[in-house]
Amino acid sequence: MGKAIAIDGPSASGKSSVSKGVAVELGFIYVDSGALYRGVTWQAIRTGVDTTDSAAVLDSMHHAEWDFFVQEGAAIFSIDGDVPVQELREKGVREAVAGVAAISEVRKFVVESLQSLENFGSLVMEGRDIGTVVFPDSPYKFYLDADPEERAMRRYRELVAAGEDEKAHEVMDSLKKRDQIDSTRKADPLVVAPGAQKIDSTSMTLDEVVQAVVDAVKEGL
Ligand code: DC
Repeated sequence: MGKAIAIDGPSASGKSSVSKGVAVELGFIYVDSGALYRGVTWQAIRTGVDTTDSAAVLDSMHHAEWDFFVQEGAAIFSIDGDVPVQELREKGVREAVAGVAAISEVRKFVVESLQSLENFGSLVMEGRDIGTVVFPDSPYKFYLDADPEERAMRRYRELVAAGEDEKAHEVMDSLKKRDQIDSTRKADPLVVAPGAQKIDSTSMTLDEVVQAVVDAVKEGL
């Protein structure tokens, strides 16, 4: 069985860039667990389902055919034969995903799918509950954080770079709302996993954070 490095933290804490960097450094497979929650949300939306209707969301999720595979060092998936990438970042998905990710049966499906990816090899998985729920026995757990203002600025720059017309204060508001939903929901709220190493990236560069994680993993923690 391969190793699984868990990298958890709130939105825009730098998890994606750090996880991708660590995966490249170590030759592990990168997994974006949030993409699965977004995939369930996207599938519901494109099949005309009201995302606040849990039963309908579950129906659309269970009736879809999900396939997982590795491409260019990352684990990705198709839903009914389509591989959504850009689609997962659309506004409709972004606004509905926290609600969908709060449905416990959605979480069960996603957690089991994520665990099955170990068959592909050693993983670097980013998310909210990887160290607490998906791979609680992993000795390689990290919790990345940064000040809310810094996280909002990072997300804002990302959105602007992606050509989205967002206002900085709206990004801050939506980030706070997401933090609130993610950390107070009943099913697997965002918490620091027991034994996780906390890294505050507010005043660190990306390379410094990647190196901190790689060093810790190489030292066997
Ligand atoms: O990381 P992200 O922004 O793509 O996450 C999208 C949503 O999914 C977000 O509301 C938190 C949720 N999520 C989760 O509950 N557990 C995970 N392991 C990853 C994401």
